[in-house]
Amino acid sequence: MNSRPVYLDHQATTPLDERVLQAMLPFLTSEYGNPSSNHAYGRTAAKAIRTARRQVADLVGAKNELEIVFTSGATEANHLAIIGGALAARPRGGHVITTAIEHKAVLAACQHLADHHGYTITRVGVDRHGRVHPADVAAALTPDTVLVSVMHANNEIGTLQRIAAIAEIIRPRGGLLHTDAAQSAGYGLLDAGELGVDLASISAHKFHGPKGIGALYIRGGTCITPLQSGGGQERGLRSGTPNVPAVVGLGTAADLITTGAVPGPARIRALRDRLQERLQASIPDASVNGHPHRRLPGNLSLTLPGIEAIDLLDRLPAVAASTGSACNTGNAEPSHVLTAIGLTRSQARATLRLSIGRTTTDADIERAGALIAEAVKAAAPAQTTTEAA
Ligand SMILES: Cc1ncc(COP(=O)(O)O)c(C=O)c1O
Repeated sequence: MNSRPVYLDHQATTPLDERVLQAMLPFLTSEYGNPSSNHAYGRTAAKAIRTARRQVADLVGAKNELEIVFTSGATEANHLAIIGGALAARPRGGHVITTAIEHKAVLAACQHLADHHGYTITRVGVDRHGRVHPADVAAALTPDTVLVSVMHANNEIGTLQRIAAIAEIIRPRGGLLHTDAAQSAGYGLLDAGELGVDLASISAHKFHGPKGIGALYIRGGTCITPLQSGGGQERGLRSGTPNVPAVVGLGTAADLITTGAVPGPARIRALRDRLQERLQASIPDASVNGHPHRRLPGNLSLTLPGIEAIDLLDRLPAVAASTGSACNTGNAEPSHVLTAIGLTRSQARATLRLSIGRTTTDADIERAGALIAEAVKAAAPAQTTTEAA
């Protein structure tokens, strides 16, 4: 009997691919050298890191591996890109543009620039599908703008942004363009060269690599002020002994994608569409958030009017999914992403994020679809909450 909950939270994190684990294991056991050491152990570790850097460069469309800096994940990559990029450009201006729907790691990095370094931050709004209009970015630019950060794909509603069009606007003006590609890189959608970005953040655990490792793509010639110094690793941009097993895991997870060793997005999209149709058929007033077509294949953000998503998930232990609320603080504040696309506070609290991934099966979709529909029906007449301002 399958007693584990159906895992529909692949946008939160993904299970480690067995091939990634096998590639990492020697570096957790016998190959423990420090890559900076000038002996056989060190050289083995250094070689593994060079291989991983090439694999990551290939995944993100870098010209060469020197454009890759390993970090502890996308949070750190976002901070290095935004704070490090803006600080290096300080002589040219003190204005940064971002959007209303960024991950909190981006919003916090921008806030840090405002609070501690006197930068002005503009947050560009989005339309009801969660799309940033390149013309709005153009209108927000000032002669003082040194950096623009627009996420590639949203973690709650999956909407993909027109990064290449935004790059075309910024290029002649001379500011840096950063994109948080934590959610899109695992689909092989990040081609930094083609998109025309200067900086891009990724995270291994979003595509079946280990947690606590990611990378920042830094276009050759881009100036960044390091946020930590010490041993001068990562060409002085990120001091600290690299986490060799995790770096190897990130490289291997990237390589599985670029070499076509994992199924493409079509299967995930088909499963997502089936779950969407199934739920919309049994819950007629359910509405789908995000762009109807330009969104991540595995994302399904559903607003179920009259439902408190947190309570629904509490009553559904057999389905592992997320709400649209920022529950990390435990205060159930409605998500800033959902309110930015125009949902009311109660609609935002009625929103479930189901995210399908490589390990999702047909049976998972059937089981989760039936369980969610049943739980919504049971809860339905209940809780129409009054709108709070
Ligand atoms: C869009 C986005 N940016 C950044 C992050 C943070 O990534 P990490 O867990 O690697 O720090 C996440 C993960 O939740 C994300 O979805």
